[in-house]
Amino acid sequence: MVQHAESSGFADNVVIVGGGGHVGLPLAIAFADRGESVVIQDISASAVDRVNNGELPFVEPGAEPMLRAALAAGRLRASTDPAVVGGAEHVIVVIGTPVDEHLNPDPKAIPRALAHCAPYFRDGQLLVLRSTVYPGVTALVERMVADLDVDMDVAFCPERIAEHKAMEELFTLPEIVSSRTDRGQKRAEALFGRLTSSLVALEPEEAELAKLFTNSWRYIKFAAANQFYMMANDRGLDFERIRGGLTFDYPRAADLPGAGFAAGPCLFKDTMQLAAFSDNQFALGHSAMLVNEGLPLYLVSRLEQRYDLANMTVGILGMAFKGGSDDIRSSLSYKLRRVLSFKAKDVLTTDPYVTVDPDLLPLDDVLARSDLLIIATPHSDYRGISTEKPVADVWNLLGNGVRV
Ligand SMILES: NC(=O)c1ccc[n+]([C@@H]2O[C@H](COP(=O)([O-])OP(=O)(O)OC[C@H]3O[C@@H](n4cnc5c(N)ncnc54)[C@H](O)[C@@H]3O)[C@@H](O)[C@H]2O)c1
Repeated sequence: MVQHAESSGFADNVVIVGGGGHVGLPLAIAFADRGESVVIQDISASAVDRVNNGELPFVEPGAEPMLRAALAAGRLRASTDPAVVGGAEHVIVVIGTPVDEHLNPDPKAIPRALAHCAPYFRDGQLLVLRSTVYPGVTALVERMVADLDVDMDVAFCPERIAEHKAMEELFTLPEIVSSRTDRGQKRAEALFGRLTSSLVALEPEEAELAKLFTNSWRYIKFAAANQFYMMANDRGLDFERIRGGLTFDYPRAADLPGAGFAAGPCLFKDTMQLAAFSDNQFALGHSAMLVNEGLPLYLVSRLEQRYDLANMTVGILGMAFKGGSDDIRSSLSYKLRRVLSFKAKDVLTTDPYVTVDPDLLPLDDVLARSDLLIIATPHSDYRGISTEKPVADVWNLLGNGVRV
């Protein structure tokens, strides 16, 4: 069991650095729900204000009522002040770890972010890295802590939830827990044991790769499906019919995904982190990137063969990176828009959830003004659309097949 804050000599049990984000906030809410006293530290003043007002800065089903309950119980608060890091026994770091425009990871991102908190580190704390990190970052942080001369344990416990399933998966998925020392391992297990009884112990280097392998594996699976889609589609065949046939009562193929845009803030960048880690010799990962990032271009060139795009207005339905989401990070809908802007007379965009894009129009406007529609994000809202216009629907959301 995690010691109670008062008996540990710390005012709070958990502080989450980057706790205003998509991973940090659900985690903070989950710990508060389990009775821990939690502080969120984040550099985003707007995220901090919204959290303290009981509002989620993004869509995450089920999280808002739990946030409000935690605030009302006095178990959760948010701050931009790095000094709050000194007040909690467990310091969990969940800042973003993107690759740069040349697809290079930044192994120093976490140590750099920690530099702001380091003056507040105290003896007796457990520092947990929760971001998806470039392999070796845990060892880097261990050295950083050793140089500070603070008696602090370090653990790496990667987050494996999917956005929109956080409040369920945080309590049901097994937690991978790793630390170099027995004491660190026991403390990290006790902490995550508050969320689930299913814990998996690995060495830090194993855990770092486990997380990158998980996301790369998923990305490669989507690429396989997308390549099969293009092969079938080039021959006038409907991939969804073929997939339905081959997976029917055949468990060995049950995990073949449907075709669709494989995007978002994690899968692509973590595949590229793994590629950089293997000296750019990750043939499958790079191939997956070419296929997945190439799908919007493939769709446009197929549509170009059938339609006079230069004289048409094309409507893109859905700009978030996945169905039901308001998150546009690394969304391929934007790549589709860019490609179409060179080819079509006009491009209109709509999304029922995205709030940060001033160019979006109401769905009805886009349906009325477009000559051709592309469902780019499988929001269930689009299942019921009624239109006479041609619709490219690689997701088979309308049930009319996926041929383009
Ligand atoms: N989004 C997912 O579904 C998901 C799932 C599993 C793992 N991850 C990993 O979790 C990590 C975080 O991803 P995310 O989607 O939550 O990112 P995010 O951008 O939504 O959240 C990161 C938060 O960190 C804050 N931040 C950035 N620098 C900071 C600093 N120096 N000090 C304090 N706060 C700082 C930002 O303001 C933001 O609120 C990444 O490594 C990601 O790969 C994400």
